[in-house]
Amino acid sequence: MPARETRLWAVDTPNTSYVVALDDHDRLHGLHWGPRLAPEQALALLDLPEAPFRPVVDGCDARLDLSAASAFRYGHNGLQVRFADGTRDLELAFTEAAEADGALTLVFTDRHYPLEVRSTYRAFTDTDVIERSLVLRNTGTEDIEVVRADSATWVLPELETPRLGQLHGEWGAETQLTRTAVPHGETVIGSRRGITGHQANPWVAVDDGQTTETRGPVWSTALAWSGTWRITVEKTPRGRVAVSAGFGHDPVSIRLRGGETLETPVCAGLHTDGGFAAAAGAWHDYARAHVLPHPDEDRPVLYNSWEATEFDFTAEDQMRLAKGAAAMGCELFVMDDGWFGSRTHDGAGLGDWTPNPDRFPDGLGPLIEHVHGLGMRFGIWVEPEMVNPDSDLYRAHPDWVYHQPHRRRSEVRRQLVLNLARPDVAEWVHARLDELLSANAIDFVKWDMNRPFTEAGWPGEDDPDRLWFDHTRNLYAILDRLRADHPALRIESCSSGGGRVDFGILRRTDQVWTSDNTDAVDRIAIQEGFAQVYPARVMGAWVTDSPNPWTRRAVPLEFRFHVAMAGALAVGGDLRVWSEEDLARGAELVADYKRIRPAVQHGRRRPLRAGAVAGVQYDRGDRTVVLAWRRSRAFGYRDPLLKLHGLDPGARYRERGTDRLHHGAVLLSHGLDLRLDPGDYASAMIELVREA
Ligand code: GLA
Repeated sequence: MPARETRLWAVDTPNTSYVVALDDHDRLHGLHWGPRLAPEQALALLDLPEAPFRPVVDGCDARLDLSAASAFRYGHNGLQVRFADGTRDLELAFTEAAEADGALTLVFTDRHYPLEVRSTYRAFTDTDVIERSLVLRNTGTEDIEVVRADSATWVLPELETPRLGQLHGEWGAETQLTRTAVPHGETVIGSRRGITGHQANPWVAVDDGQTTETRGPVWSTALAWSGTWRITVEKTPRGRVAVSAGFGHDPVSIRLRGGETLETPVCAGLHTDGGFAAAAGAWHDYARAHVLPHPDEDRPVLYNSWEATEFDFTAEDQMRLAKGAAAMGCELFVMDDGWFGSRTHDGAGLGDWTPNPDRFPDGLGPLIEHVHGLGMRFGIWVEPEMVNPDSDLYRAHPDWVYHQPHRRRSEVRRQLVLNLARPDVAEWVHARLDELLSANAIDFVKWDMNRPFTEAGWPGEDDPDRLWFDHTRNLYAILDRLRADHPALRIESCSSGGGRVDFGILRRTDQVWTSDNTDAVDRIAIQEGFAQVYPARVMGAWVTDSPNPWTRRAVPLEFRFHVAMAGALAVGGDLRVWSEEDLARGAELVADYKRIRPAVQHGRRRPLRAGAVAGVQYDRGDRTVVLAWRRSRAFGYRDPLLKLHGLDPGARYRERGTDRLHHGAVLLSHGLDLRLDPGDYASAMIELVREA
């Protein structure tokens, strides 16, 4: 074998290969990301006209897997540093390749400066997801400034009409899915807010422009990080696309002192065939197998008190709501904001994590006993990274928030962000929560984070930019420690709804609050986007009052339930004012959900659509569940049949609760008659069992 052949590596997953090779200048090229190749097929890539051994002076933009700033690099640099003497270009020499525990690590060192770069690719036997990260080590004594350290740059194959799928939005309108042609140049999405953000989710999917829900290839990428981030999608003049993803944002940089190591978060990449639904399904499987801490558990039907009471309640109000929730079949009662300090409105008390003595004169014990006595678990809301200026905490430690000299301290919702990057502040936050959880039988925490950073400074610290990274690292460390010390605790990530949803936070939480917008119609779009990446079991979905308190849209109870039942069903309405009829019907629908829960929370999701009718199908073993909805019919036309997917055409499927028996072949090629009510906001839940 010629020596050059040992400079090619294939990262193989069950169905795909990602192949990289070094050229004569030790630049690492991405040669293939697609169907799995045998070793000799991978080697044959070197003979293709664009292989790295053809003379390349220019034009390797978007073909480098390790895209370090260096000569002839005019595109996005996934790795860029500044050495103490001002040198910015890297000249990386390949040192070694190490393989261990399913991971390949390619090691490079700079030809002159004391910098080591390790690029790691981890493959698994049960998923086509490849996890990548970068580790930088300053092996010298002088500081190195890291301007950009993307976790991974993914090189895509040549596509004639590449299309970019992304999730964008804002508060109350998260995870809106859009697919558009990839423009030439660099397309950048990200967050500069200190959190993952509502405006963009750290995921993109590129397809060939022809892919549908059920057919075609998709190359998708997700970054496991909950602070600021950036994904750059680059398309060269000849149409080549690369996707580079990493933490941090312009213009912050990371100071790497002598002897220090910088480890980037995981960037996961996935190539699939079989359309967008197959890509989403593969992400869900990956989340369950490799990300979520308790994937085999069922997420309980929870009740949350926020929309019912907001800040205005007594312990007795909470008990009354808990009684209603238990009667409806809820399994976990979560008391939201307003239970601590002087928090009777949003202007005071954040930071003072002891029960409000007027509302809970005997502490939380009596309420918790009441909830446990009703057979439910007990959960509580906290927002530990925040402080109201009107709080004992702020009065004692005004220097504990992010701030800059001679700049105002801008408030959002009358609150400021604690400098969690400070070790003493992080220690204090951990201690308060640990105390709260140790003193009370709390089973669940809703961990909120309601505002972005502003005036993000750290006076007195000689490397203040590190706050952007250390805030998130310390948040992760606190969560990890609390979980280790309170193993029965389950956690929901919330950030004014879905502002902190990513695979980084999901590694240490059990579910997320999808959106503060609980309008069932708006939720359909939010959920569809969310489901491109994250599984239904983490997608918190409350049934609230009608008309919706925020959008004022009136929607029937069943429709509200059926939409929420496509995720982790919860109830968030004011049960004190629901009619007897709605309470009784709600209890039936909660019971329905518990029956279909294994399919929804552990099964395969398939989106469905036929004209104005949309829905979702969940399959697990011999069970298939269809949840479908339609806002209104036009001209009195009958509703179309809804074609199902993935069934066995030769099998028969019995519909629960009716005498209907369906043929797989008919369901697949003609569809299911949902028998929807002809009026507006009609919905259905249909359970099918495959006959043996
Ligand atoms: C945020 C959350 C809501 C609720 C309120 C409480 O807005 O997203 O669900 O917890 O805070 O203040």
